[in-house]
Amino acid sequence: MLVEKNVPLQTSNTFGIVAKALTLVRVGSQADIAAVLQNPALRAAAKFVLGGGSNIVLTGDVKALVLKVEITGRRLVSENAKAWIVEAGAGENWHDLVTWTLQNGYPGLENLALIPGTVGASPVQNIGAYGVELQDRFDSLDAVDLTTGRSFTLNAAQCAFGYRDSVFKHTSKPDAAGHSGFGLAGKALITKVRFALPKAWKPVLGYADIEKKRLQSSIDVPDALQIYEWICEIRKAKLPDPKLIGNAGSFFKNPTVSPEQCADIIQREPKIVHYQLADGSVKLAAGWLIDACGWRGKSIGNAGVYEKQALVLVNRGGAGHPVTGGEVMTLAKAIQTSVYERFGLRLEPEPVVV
Ligand code: EPU
Repeated sequence: MLVEKNVPLQTSNTFGIVAKALTLVRVGSQADIAAVLQNPALRAAAKFVLGGGSNIVLTGDVKALVLKVEITGRRLVSENAKAWIVEAGAGENWHDLVTWTLQNGYPGLENLALIPGTVGASPVQNIGAYGVELQDRFDSLDAVDLTTGRSFTLNAAQCAFGYRDSVFKHTSKPDAAGHSGFGLAGKALITKVRFALPKAWKPVLGYADIEKKRLQSSIDVPDALQIYEWICEIRKAKLPDPKLIGNAGSFFKNPTVSPEQCADIIQREPKIVHYQLADGSVKLAAGWLIDACGWRGKSIGNAGVYEKQALVLVNRGGAGHPVTGGEVMTLAKAIQTSVYERFGLRLEPEPVVV
């Protein structure tokens, strides 16, 4: 095990924010975690698990021991009548995995193409796009308890997936109401994820952007590769490529409100973009709310609101004069204040602020 000191993280977070890991260990296998836990200087340290850095805002140097996950590997582990079970190491690039599954004839992840980040981070926030969420294709995952070093396996129910949410985003501290929570944030490192990719595959269409592509083409029933290509085109046209413009994807979650609250807002704001959810609640498009407050294309310092999608905050300083985490959070707070003042809604950030 190599313990690295003062490691620059600018290229390890997709915003391109300058910060250092005071101490960093690269985790290529479970044995590396065992070595950390056997090391007297590291065993008790607070730990921060870093994947592709595509969903974090670094507000300073990271004092916790950074465990940079670099566990690789992709394979078909089994199949049953319903699905192919594909397993990938947590350090694999997410989009490369999606591409690999399709090239090998296992469809199901195509709607999730081009989402930045690693395989290990995908269950943490239950990534989702164009009508498919990770939980729809999830089989199980392996993780290591960062206190005991023991490995364990979780199925979907045990991951407690929600909208951009899972057990890995919660701490086990009691909540404000005193209910003791069950959470694994900061306590576990995901090593491998298994996906159940359906043999009776059906395309997930229905999203307006995909329907537009389908109508523009002469293809009535697209196959998985066709959908993959459409999704790549849609995302490239409206979301910034982090290699060119630093960003962390959608910066806020889409808020959900009760039908009564929604009716009340529609009265005041008839154009508000909203979607009915199966449980009766209504999801509002945060991008529309931010846009309606006039933020699209605006900046504070080097933190900007992307011109083509107001839900995405970007690094306008490039690699030379990169945005700081403080600037990003100042802009985020200003946006939250505007949206609250106009709509009475509190936007919740999606990335983890470190
Ligand atoms: N809109 C505006 N102005 C804007 C941005 C959006 O009016 O500046 C309107 C759009 O016209 C549209 C609606 O808001 O009617 C929703 O926008 P969009 O279809 O782009 O989707 P979204 O709700 O903003 C979510 C996910 C994305 C995912 C897309 C597609 C969240 C927080 N974001 O975005 O996920 O790719 O749907 O399914 O749920 C991510 O999580 O990082 C991410 C990119």
